[in-house]
Amino acid sequence: MTSTTDVAPAPGAAQAPTAQADAAAVTVEKIGGRIGAVISGVRLGGDLDAATVSAIRAAVLEHKVVFLRDQHHLDAAGHEAFGRLLGELVAHPTVPSVDGRYALGIDNDHGGRANQWHTDVTFVPAYPAFSILRAEVIPPYGGNTLWANTAAAYAELPEPLRLLADNLRGLHTNDYDYAAVRPGAVSAELLQHREVFTSVAFRTEHPVVRLHPETGERTLILGNFLQRFAGLDGRDSRALFNVLQSHVERPENTVRWQWRAGDVAIWDNRATQHYGVDDSDDHERTLRRVTVDGDVPIGVDGRRSVLLAPQSVPEPEYGIASGASTDGRLAEA
Ligand SMILES: [Fe+2]
Repeated sequence: MTSTTDVAPAPGAAQAPTAQADAAAVTVEKIGGRIGAVISGVRLGGDLDAATVSAIRAAVLEHKVVFLRDQHHLDAAGHEAFGRLLGELVAHPTVPSVDGRYALGIDNDHGGRANQWHTDVTFVPAYPAFSILRAEVIPPYGGNTLWANTAAAYAELPEPLRLLADNLRGLHTNDYDYAAVRPGAVSAELLQHREVFTSVAFRTEHPVVRLHPETGERTLILGNFLQRFAGLDGRDSRALFNVLQSHVERPENTVRWQWRAGDVAIWDNRATQHYGVDDSDDHERTLRRVTVDGDVPIGVDGRRSVLLAPQSVPEPEYGIASGASTDGRLAEA
């Protein structure tokens, strides 16, 4: 079903006929029952009018992930300029950016494969609100990405599990056991990537259920950076994690995107997990990711996420703002 977004000009937005015409051209086509939509009629860049930006933002909040085809004109600067229309850009806390910019490389030849379900950067308190991924080189087959809706997953939990999740806190870290998730397949490149990725070991305690600051929905903070639940040992944590995470990963709760070069995906990182399918063998797959700063999650009980380690967040050496935003609050302990 195709629906044309009916966009009212944002308060204070330019009333020029061209701006209204741009917004009116935006169409949003839902591609899954619970998650995913394709946006057309937009040429992404830093010069979009306010009404078009608010239409895109609204579509991301509603559909959790949106896709735009044929954005071949977009280079690193344009990618970042568009990102700034959604908020403040942040670099990855440990992995150096590409060419000193905010873009993070997602290249399958540097150990950067992401074939685990995760929400980006949940090992810091204020993990990104939005991620914007742009496809430069796509393999001849495979290399799709899946997204899952963590608001729908929460909403569909049986009530006893919802109550349990509401009262749980989870410890997230970037220093998790790679060998456990990749038995026998730890290459030299992967070890090097891990060394960089964990150059600062972050530990953050999040509520398992957060209140979304824009939609008010309750969303689950799980994924593969979760090490264990507060107050539970490793064995109980793994068992409970599998129960809760299985509701996120249900096929009905996901959308799968087959990339073409020039595609852009924009997702609400506070309401999704994603998974990069590692099935394109050794073919090149190069994507660039820009992330927009988030805020510190607040649980159902009003308790915020806290950074447990390190004591303070080091600024990266390459000179641009860290993505390890804590919203100014560190652990009180
Ligand atoms: Fe990711």
